[in-house]
This record gives sequence, structure tokens and C-alpha cells, in this order.
Amino acid sequence: MDSVKVGPAAFRRIVIAIDGPAGSGKSTLASLLARKYNYTNIETGAMYRALALKAMQNGVSLDDAAALGALAGESGIELLPKPEGNRVLLDGADVTERIRQQDVTEVASRVSVHPAVREWMVDRQREIGAGGGIVMEGRDIGTKVFPDAEVKIFLDAAPEIRGTRRFLQSPAATAPEAAVLAELHQRDQRDRTRATSPLVPAPDAILIDSTNLSLDQVVARATEIIDERLKTSS
Ligand code: DC
Repeated sequence: MDSVKVGPAAFRRIVIAIDGPAGSGKSTLASLLARKYNYTNIETGAMYRALALKAMQNGVSLDDAAALGALAGESGIELLPKPEGNRVLLDGADVTERIRQQDVTEVASRVSVHPAVREWMVDRQREIGAGGGIVMEGRDIGTKVFPDAEVKIFLDAAPEIRGTRRFLQSPAATAPEAAVLAELHQRDQRDRTRATSPLVPAPDAILIDSTNLSLDQVVARATEIIDERLKTSS
């Protein structure tokens, strides 16, 4: 019987960058891919969210770039990758659920516009991903954090679909669907138009538009892209 031959590429532990707007399904995809390839899943948005919470707790002005940059340096932000997503510690306290609430979501988008904050985040994210074997999702992973990532996926979906998904995910559906859609739209605009590292697809990113795809179909397409890359990359 022929033995199965597995080339060295199959053992390479690459960087898989997933970027896209809110509600496109990045976290779900990243967590499923991490399980499939036995990689570590990093949700970079959770880091911005944790800093946002710290700014709120400390009463730091969201326009004070220098104070926010300094606050980042003083913050103990830890991501603990779990099969169901990242648990998030801020200065040792578990803030995983708190940072998903609407007030923190809004502030996270606002603190993320400041270059001093982004520099700090990008440095930490590069450290985390340095060894490869990582699925990292966010807004600037393929453009800024890992511009040489072996796989870059830009995950998108029509705004109404993203808004409805977000609404259905929200814990107690605390806001009406129209309000969730409006917030998502506003946050998208801010994330896409900020001066530093706006949300744009890297020129070499592969687009997956999940508007008319099931989750299984999105995972199948991403797997195809990754397996192809693992086969061809040296
Ligand atoms: O992915 P998320 O919704 O948890 O991200 C929260 C905010 O953080 C988002 O509105 C923009 C910001 N963010 C960013 O600027 N860059 C990243 N790599 C990840 C998130």
C-alpha cells in the first residue's frame, strides 16, 4: 500500500490574516479555522475594546491621543484563546462579556483612530503572531500588522445582512434592530475613513463575500484558500 506523503509545507505554521467590517463573521471564521488547523486564534478587536473600557473607567478623554497612548502602555491586556473565542483579561480581571456591550463597542472604534494607540496595539500583535500558527482577525492585519502574511482574507457582507446578524447575536437584543444597524453603519464609516490604517482590503487579499453564503460555505472557501497556499508556499 502506498504511504501517504506529506511535504514539509504541511507542517509550516503560517499567519492567516482575516480582515473585514463589523458583523462580517470574522470571529466565527477565525475560531473555526484555528480549530481546524490547530492554530491560535487572536481577536484583535478585543484589545481595542479592553483599552476602551480602561479609558472609560479612568475618565480619559477619547480625543486625548497622548493620554490614550500612555494608558495603553500601562494596561495589562491579555487574550486567552479558547475554542469558542478569546477570553479577555484587563489588569487581571475577566472583562470578556463587559467589552461586548454597546457602550464599549462605540468607544473602541473611537480610541482606535489614534496612531499612538494603534502603534502600541500593532507591536503587541506582532509579538503574539511572531511564531506563526496563528489566525488573527481585525481591520489592519493584512495591511499593517502582518503585511507578509501567507494568507490574507477580506471577509465582507452587505450592510443589512451584517446588521441583522449583529442584532441576532446581541445578548438580550437590548436595542431595536434599526438602532443596531445605524450604529454598525456609523462605526463602519469611522473604521473605513480614519487616517491611520483604515479598514481596506490589502491589495493581495482574497475577498470572500458572505452575503449569500452559509457559514459552512465560508469555511469551505477559506479552507480551500489556505490549503492551496500551504501546498504552493515554500
Ligand atoms: O472587531 P471588533 O468589532 O471587536 O473591533 C472593535 C473596534 O476596534 C472596531 O470598531 C475598530 C477597532 N479595531 C481596529 O481598529 N483594528 C483592529 N485590528 C481591530 C479592531
